[in-house]
Amino acid sequence: MNKIIRKRQLSADVFRFTFEAENIARERKAGQFLIVQLDNDFAERFPLTIADADQENGTIDIIFQAVGASTMKLAAMEVGDSIANVLGPLGTPTHIEKVNGPVVCVGGGIGVAPMHPIVQALKDAGNQIIVIMGARNKELLIMEEEMKTLADELIICTDDGSYGRKALVTEPLKELCESDTPPVLAFAIGPPIMMKFCAETTRPYKVHTMVSLNTIMVDGTGMCGGCRVSVGDETKFVCVHGPEFDGHKVDFDNMMMRLKAYKPHEEDHKCRVGSKQKGA
Ligand code: FES
Repeated sequence: MNKIIRKRQLSADVFRFTFEAENIARERKAGQFLIVQLDNDFAERFPLTIADADQENGTIDIIFQAVGASTMKLAAMEVGDSIANVLGPLGTPTHIEKVNGPVVCVGGGIGVAPMHPIVQALKDAGNQIIVIMGARNKELLIMEEEMKTLADELIICTDDGSYGRKALVTEPLKELCESDTPPVLAFAIGPPIMMKFCAETTRPYKVHTMVSLNTIMVDGTGMCGGCRVSVGDETKFVCVHGPEFDGHKVDFDNMMMRLKAYKPHEEDHKCRVGSKQKGA
């Protein structure tokens, strides 16, 4: 069992939990994620990204938005409660290396949380990092202090202009691509539509752009096919081949259509992965 030892509410529906997960804290690398099941009673299994880890104390931090049945149930849990099953670290870690030029990391909304370990790792590798953070308004911005500490330059955008620049994240991204010292590598993590337009922004400038996909997941081990996406001419499973892919090759429209198709079933879903089927 993974005991919750700290709970913070970052905005109306965004929470940061610290919980015990010694092995994951030791093993996790930037870009990896977890599959969580809140109780053993056929609860839904759902993916969460790791925002931070403390190897010494054997804890990890997750940041999530309470938008569906399971994340709302998680948000209602308190310090001292335990999460029944936490599977991870899963997925292919981010490829980290020192590159010859600036790296721009674009995080939208809750996407700043999975971006944090990537920025940490890029910084540790000696890169010059520009972070662009975006949210609908000031209240929805997360991890500003952490990003301030890590980034060589931090650009904050809000849709309503309540903080930072009143702009979409693609505006400063385009300006950077057109500057005298354009980025040689970009990461974009956030809502699918944001990642799609970040990839479209960098495409004409040939800036290699990685995106981290957050699809529906069930088993998290490449068995169920629930997380499949089209990347170039290939079908990939986000849970094992990803979650990061070349943003210029991802079929975002297909991915967004699949995400919408699952939505009506979410409330009624009972996960039976790992349970004994009748007659088995
Ligand atoms: S979650 Fe089942 S194949 Fe990826």
